[in-house]
Amino acid sequence: MTAVGIDAIELWTGKLRLDLPNTFAPVKGEDPGKYTKGIGIEYSSLPDVYEDIVTMGANAAKRLMDREGLTPDDIGRIDVATESAFDNSKPVSTYVAGCLEQVYDGDFHHANKGERKFACLSGTQVIDDAYNWIRAGRNRGRAALVIATDTALYERGDPGEATQGAGAVAMLVDEDPDVVALSTEQGYGSADETDFLKPNQQFPSVDGKRSIQVYLARMREALEDYESVAGDTHPDDFVYFPFHTPYPGMVRKAALLGYRHITRGTDIEDALADDIGMQPREADFAEWDDYEEAIRAYMDELKETRRYREWYERAIDPTVRIAGQVGNWYTGSVHLARLSALRAAAEEDADLVGEKLLVGSYGSGAQAEIHAETVQDGWREGVEAVDVEARLDNRYDLSYEEYELVHDVHNHEKEVEVDEFTQPSGEFVFTGWGRMNERR
Ligand code: CAA
Repeated sequence: MTAVGIDAIELWTGKLRLDLPNTFAPVKGEDPGKYTKGIGIEYSSLPDVYEDIVTMGANAAKRLMDREGLTPDDIGRIDVATESAFDNSKPVSTYVAGCLEQVYDGDFHHANKGERKFACLSGTQVIDDAYNWIRAGRNRGRAALVIATDTALYERGDPGEATQGAGAVAMLVDEDPDVVALSTEQGYGSADETDFLKPNQQFPSVDGKRSIQVYLARMREALEDYESVAGDTHPDDFVYFPFHTPYPGMVRKAALLGYRHITRGTDIEDALADDIGMQPREADFAEWDDYEEAIRAYMDELKETRRYREWYERAIDPTVRIAGQVGNWYTGSVHLARLSALRAAAEEDADLVGEKLLVGSYGSGAQAEIHAETVQDGWREGVEAVDVEARLDNRYDLSYEEYELVHDVHNHEKEVEVDEFTQPSGEFVFTGWGRMNERR
């Protein structure tokens, strides 16, 4: 069976950044350690006043197409994943295609376009849809362009404000992929939940503490469902575990519980019991919704063990490094986690061909999905081509007053000149509702 998966990746970060420990924390009267150590985010990426989900998505897609030497004829499908959509009728992909058609010969009239919504999870659902479309033989030799684009902004004063972010990830899904091939097995955990909602409103209504429990409960269900088709998971089966990262502290919690789950019944569990001097009680794990109270004593010990720390440093820490520099990109977040890990491996000159990733995606509302991916021959060139550091370093540093102004502009409360902070430079820019975005 021909492999299908991610052939190329590109990103576009919002061009502004907010320094959480040095600019945000003093105004909020918080210890900087809450952001650097607890939440795990140093900088939030924010969109400049001329950026939105369309311009960021189109700019990421243009980079991808230019780098890969693609024309519209090579693309048979454009899907956008977002939870920041502004149009209840036209999918964001039509706006993105409209931008791209301004700069390429040819058009996307033949391409199937859509928009996927399931909070952050839809960033993976667009990959799944493309995979299924290619596997079904309906792609006529063409690839799918999938884009995850979001402005993750919260009301000022909401606890979620510290996890904001904005950016887009564009990916090419194709046969014989260069970066990763997807497995056919998937696991799901899904339930109707109301901890994170945006019904006809700009900023989400969030029960933050509850949202943590829901994330963990649905991920646990997805992992069990995945194991029911793929067999038991072992910590050493996977080189990295890229997970949806609303903030790195959330992944720390998921990793701890996940590690406990995938070590049960293994030799590692016995060795850990010796290290810790206590056996985990299986009954405690029945109620993951209340896990923090039920199993804190065992977990507090587990996270201090050498075995766990070594696994975390190897398999988890590399996945959250980009998130710590940009915040939550919602639908793009799990794709940043994969990219973050692969770039860390490339920097260490590791040989990953044939290694496996266990990818955990999550969307509020709520659903988690777990699947495996196999690293392909061209992974190193594929991730080294993305100039992540330069793009993150080039962001404009906002003062707190400027941050408030930008936030108000994106909430349609204020207007400023396009060049208030940065100048557009050969990119698509937002020029007003109901008008075509321009390239400047
Ligand atoms: N030094 C070190 N650590 C510190 C510290 C300090 N000085 N001060 C606080 N901390 C730690 C805290 O102990 C805490 O860690 P633990 O959770 O491990 O105990 C962490 O920093 C955060 O501190 P608080 O819990 O006090 O933070 P908060 O209540 O202000 O906000 C939050 C946390 C509720 C997650 C909030 O950021 C939020 O509402 N975020 C949006 C919702 C969200 O991201 N939920 C995640 C699951 S839902 C999802 O994944 C979908 C999505 O993308 C949104």
